[in-house]
Amino acid sequence: MNLSDKKATLSFSDGSPSVEFPVYKGTVGPDVVDIRKLYGQTGMFTFDPGFMSTAACESGITYIDGDKGELLYRGFPIEQLAVNCDFLDICYLILNGELPNGEQKKDFDTQVTHHTLVNEQLHFFLRGFRRDAHPMAVLTGLVGALSAFYHDSTDITNPEHRHISAIRLIAKMPTLVAMAYKYSQGQPFIYPRNDLSYTGNFLRMMFATPCEDYKVNEVVERALDRIFILHADHEQNASTSTVRLCGSSGTNPFAAISAGVACLWGPAHGGANEACLQMLEELQANGGVAKVGEFMEKVKDKNSGVRLMGFGHRVYKNYDPRAKLMQETCKEVLAALGLENDPLFKLAMELERIALEDPYFVQRKLYPNVDFYSGIVQRAIGIPTSLFTAIFALARTVGWIAQWNEMLSDPDYKIGRPRQLFTGHVTRDVPEMNKR
Ligand code: SDX
Repeated sequence: MNLSDKKATLSFSDGSPSVEFPVYKGTVGPDVVDIRKLYGQTGMFTFDPGFMSTAACESGITYIDGDKGELLYRGFPIEQLAVNCDFLDICYLILNGELPNGEQKKDFDTQVTHHTLVNEQLHFFLRGFRRDAHPMAVLTGLVGALSAFYHDSTDITNPEHRHISAIRLIAKMPTLVAMAYKYSQGQPFIYPRNDLSYTGNFLRMMFATPCEDYKVNEVVERALDRIFILHADHEQNASTSTVRLCGSSGTNPFAAISAGVACLWGPAHGGANEACLQMLEELQANGGVAKVGEFMEKVKDKNSGVRLMGFGHRVYKNYDPRAKLMQETCKEVLAALGLENDPLFKLAMELERIALEDPYFVQRKLYPNVDFYSGIVQRAIGIPTSLFTAIFALARTVGWIAQWNEMLSDPDYKIGRPRQLFTGHVTRDVPEMNKR
């Protein structure tokens, strides 16, 4: 980051001495006021619950322009990456900063392919869950459990240990997600195969059975690979910030990523795709397009507690570029599968049309986000609704681990430890029992 010639001065109306802070510029996006010395110089904290105006770190991985609706991974626009690359190209890019050349791609893909197996002991972990356990509960447990199997790479200060942990996590997430699905179906686990693509391998582990050969549908493979690309990273969102904060204590990468999986599960975050499809199915069952107007009135009524899931975003105040690409993927997949008249897709398009014309949404700059169409595509592919967020976690693992690695690569990083505005009781004595 570069020191700006502009400075920030904080002055107080009670005549307390003013304080000056340096301002830093990034390569693009908002400048930052460096307030690290604020408490030492004033005895005061800043107050920013939800971090609406707080840059928690310096990063060079992903840039979002919320006003323009732009998303760049290492400077490359998501629209170009989604068309010209496969997911492992994106993993290499996000981890290393550049797209791989032919040799680098071959080597990286081989590394990932040869780490897709999980220790057979992990099969016993699943046995402890009910068959109807939510896949995110299973995945949170399995990812954290991985830390019990890799004592050979626990030195997080060693770049080689961090690299092999990144490869293992990217490689094993599809295997773990597919195992969680097979377990819920009461079907045998399907082992990974080295002669399939990353995404083709995942589809086979999900939908093959030992009873017959499984042929990967190339349209579905390409669509799911694009879904992975669109979910790979997204700046300092809630789950990435969780991974950074968790990792800042020096814990192992599997524990930190498990914390990210747990955070992503929430309906305000990665759980929105599951909630959005449930909203569409419920609306479809209760009158469909004919009832959209009534539903939208509920959404606009604060007291209803009803939100248009898959809409709105903390950063995007314009159309989420991923939602546009997801809608296109929807159209391609539904057409290829002969589902172009899918009632849920038509319902979603109608909800979007109405919302984008309604002053409530226009004034609040609420647009479709990545979760609005992703459920429809995944449902068309045959992925159960309860697995949508686990698919999101599979794809986001590379972003989480790259951000974790970026933090640990900075020799000056510190453990994250926010402060508070305390509004509770001041010191008081414990009363006798008969006086409580
Ligand atoms: C993801 O951060 C990321 O980058 C996340 C993500 C990633 O890739 O990691 O992009 C993935 O999490 C996408 C977001 C998925 N969540 C949803 O789709 C759930 C529905 N959306 C909302 O709950 C909400 O929009 C958030 C949580 C996404 C953003 O919330 P903010 O920034 O805290 O905004 P807010 O809740 O303060 O809303 C501002 C106003 C409020 O109305 P007023 O109080 O101003 O009158 O907009 C309203 C909200 O009530 N509003 C909505 C709405 N979203 C916001 N009203 C109806 N439906 C909605 N979906």
